[in-house]
Amino acid sequence: MQKRWYGLSKNELDTPCLILDVDLFEENLHYMNKWAAAAGKKLRPHVKTHKCVEIARRQLAGTENAGVCAAKVSEAEVLVNSGIDQVLVTSPVVTPFKIKRLLNCLAKTNDIIVVVDNPENVEELNSAALSSNLCLSVLVDINPDMGRTGADYPAVIPLAEQVHSKPGLRLKGIQCYAGIVQHIEGFEERRRASLKVMLKAAELFRKMRASGLPVEVFSGAGTGTYDIDTEIAEVTDLQVGSYCVMDAEYCNISSRSGDLFTTFHPALTLLAHVISTNQSDFVTVDAGLKAMYFTPHAPPHLLNPAGKGWVFNWFGDEHGRVYSPHIELKPRLGDVIELNLAHCDPTINLYDSIWVARNGRIIDRWQVDLRGCSQ
Ligand SMILES: Cc1ncc(COP(=O)(O)O)c(C=O)c1O
Repeated sequence: MQKRWYGLSKNELDTPCLILDVDLFEENLHYMNKWAAAAGKKLRPHVKTHKCVEIARRQLAGTENAGVCAAKVSEAEVLVNSGIDQVLVTSPVVTPFKIKRLLNCLAKTNDIIVVVDNPENVEELNSAALSSNLCLSVLVDINPDMGRTGADYPAVIPLAEQVHSKPGLRLKGIQCYAGIVQHIEGFEERRRASLKVMLKAAELFRKMRASGLPVEVFSGAGTGTYDIDTEIAEVTDLQVGSYCVMDAEYCNISSRSGDLFTTFHPALTLLAHVISTNQSDFVTVDAGLKAMYFTPHAPPHLLNPAGKGWVFNWFGDEHGRVYSPHIELKPRLGDVIELNLAHCDPTINLYDSIWVARNGRIIDRWQVDLRGCSQ
């Protein structure tokens, strides 16, 4: 049965809401798939960006992939229960309850990998896996000079040896995700910063191999370094996330060609309505901090209507403010505006579903299945 919203113009939707231009989105996937294939790397897309099973399935379709990444065990649970069974959990899992939940996922799929950065955690994972009669695959997480998670360089090989010695664990390789470099504005500066940390990780990977450790995976890279980290022979797969939908933070950095980062399209946008027009120099729209994650260094751009010089700014929890340089072009009550997202991940996590459009007409609605899975 056709849904009552099928074929609506996107401007008829209730707001605030998220809308995905499916053709731009598919172009983003296609470009990344082609890039990775040409570089001889697999994709391991990170679902933390979109938290949507349908998007994950499309990312995996028709490409050489290594499964997906999840940031949290609760995300992995939803993925596994949806039939996506190759999942790398990219943050350490340390509490007994969470380890149990991780092992429950493993019992269902046999294809779960977790990262470790601490010897005590290795012992705990090993004991828990043994008492469940399971063998858990592990990557040693390397600190990319950022300090958020990951073992410091001198601790990496001893930790890998410890993992390898445990009967309940299977050492698979390393993870090094240099989150700190992804948004460096200049391409050459970003390239230098990324290669600095990723080459150190590659050296450790070679040393592990030379000493007989059975490492086969070096997982890393994000949207900001997808075409930099592929220069490193040892990198096996790319954990890219934002590329599929993009946001203002990424649109503001430069690309290899020196221009703005237009390789990937801002496929996901936010619609809002003008709800008050009583002030002379701005109007108020119905999208504020509860509708879009705020970041001071990347205000969202107004994509629609384009060319009128309208500028969006934050105006509290429920509202935004749109300024117009010319009073005669001021937005009118009930006008719809379309914004690209300031930062995609935490914004998508605010919504239950995403409208899907082709040529401005609604063709589908995808659930944000992993919404709120922050455990
Ligand atoms: C461990 C890890 N890998 C990959 C990604 C994806 O990065 P991006 O959205 O920059 O592509 C993230 C994002 O924060 C991450 O935390």
